[in-house]
Amino acid sequence: MLWRAVVLLATTVVVISSEKVRYDKYRVYRVHPAGDEQLRFLASFAKYHNDIQFWKEPRVVNKPADVMVSPEMQTSFLEGLEANGIQATVYVDNVQTLIDNERGVRRQGESFGWEDYYTLEEIHGWLNSLSETYPDVVTPIVGGSSYEGREILGVNITFAPGNPVVVVEGGIHAGEWIGPATATWIINQILTTNDSAVRDTVRQFNFYVFPNLNPDGYVYTWTTDRNWRGTRTPYTPCYGADPNRNWDFHWGEEGASSTVCSSDFAGPEPFSEVETRTFSEFLASLGDDFQVYLDFHSYGQMLMFPYGLYSVTAPNYDDLLVITTKAVEALTARYGTQYTFGSIVDTIYAAAGSSLDWVMGVLGKRFVFVWELRDKGQYGQLLPADQIIPNSEETFDSILSILRDVLAQIESSHS
Ligand SMILES: *[C@@H]1O[C@H](CO)[C@@H](O)[C@H](O)[C@H]1NC(C)=O
Ligand SMILES: *[C@@H]1O[C@H](CO)[C@@H](O)[C@H](O)[C@H]1NC(C)=O
Ligand SMILES: [Zn+2]
Repeated sequence: MLWRAVVLLATTVVVISSEKVRYDKYRVYRVHPAGDEQLRFLASFAKYHNDIQFWKEPRVVNKPADVMVSPEMQTSFLEGLEANGIQATVYVDNVQTLIDNERGVRRQGESFGWEDYYTLEEIHGWLNSLSETYPDVVTPIVGGSSYEGREILGVNITFAPGNPVVVVEGGIHAGEWIGPATATWIINQILTTNDSAVRDTVRQFNFYVFPNLNPDGYVYTWTTDRNWRGTRTPYTPCYGADPNRNWDFHWGEEGASSTVCSSDFAGPEPFSEVETRTFSEFLASLGDDFQVYLDFHSYGQMLMFPYGLYSVTAPNYDDLLVITTKAVEALTARYGTQYTFGSIVDTIYAAAGSSLDWVMGVLGKRFVFVWELRDKGQYGQLLPADQIIPNSEETFDSILSILRDVLAQIESSHS
């Protein structure tokens, strides 16, 4: 405990001097836990060492996990793996190199685009500009607020009153920059597509799109620590909770941590975070027009639906499996990108307290999907900006497939 306190003091100094956290020679290992004891070893090792962070949590026997290890910890980490008989390969040799290379290009005179990543301020500026460009269709919409007082800003794209509403969410995990980038690309596509079949589909819906559900965390990933994940609520002795383990449905039951400082800390109580509390109130206020929920995370190339729980199964599980099967076929058709799919718990692991589970379990919405976007771990959440457009294109293909299936189901339930 004392040892941790010393480490945290050091972290605080970094924040006060507002230097950027560097990841020189941090490596990411892909490890293969082959039994419960090996899972326990990995979890406890990370718990007692701040300079070991999971990129992908070791939760399930025989499913690989990705572990980022500081240069100082390499030797004892490798000794620990050997002592416990855990297979590992180096997946990323130097995390700082990926951070240095992820940014793309910006064309002169262009204030926004999809060949680079953009700051929260730039994204909000672009969202607000859309209501001037498309005054008949787009209005800004505030879905909630953050601990530090920022808005959860989105756009309300209404083609016709009474259309089914699709809510799109990105960036609930701060460091997963491809989520907000994909969300803004999709807004642009909905508004500007020249493909008449695409236009016919999207205009039968209304869209409320929120690229950055965790604005404080996103700002922090730009100013201070690229690998930040959670909110910026001050807890003792660490900042932040995981806003995608904080929703009030089977909260804290499986696949979430009650330990402050852990990357998937569920918070001290359900909806302890301003972001999840305010955004859930917004979602609850939408009523029956709200029918579809789409959520973007990275990484892993997975398309999933509720639940992230062993104890509950979606009432329309069979339907959702068919819909995701077709959506992944549509996605793969464009560039051959391979996705796995299914319920969250079958595809990745248990993760109680996610927004997705709450939208289905409490609000009773039936068409609820989450993407773990590109890639499969070569870059992780540090995906180079030249992949934003191809990633967004293939993702949009899968969304269109889902929306067409939803329309067919809505029509058949009315006939
Ligand atoms: C979205 O915009 C439409 C059209 O202006 C409006 O009727 C609707 O109430 C708006 N939705 C929300 C949640 O504000
Ligand atoms: C649709 O066509 C217009 C006019 O040619 C063009 O400016 C716009 O970029 C096109 N939209 C897309 C999404 O390609
Ligand atoms: Zn995530």
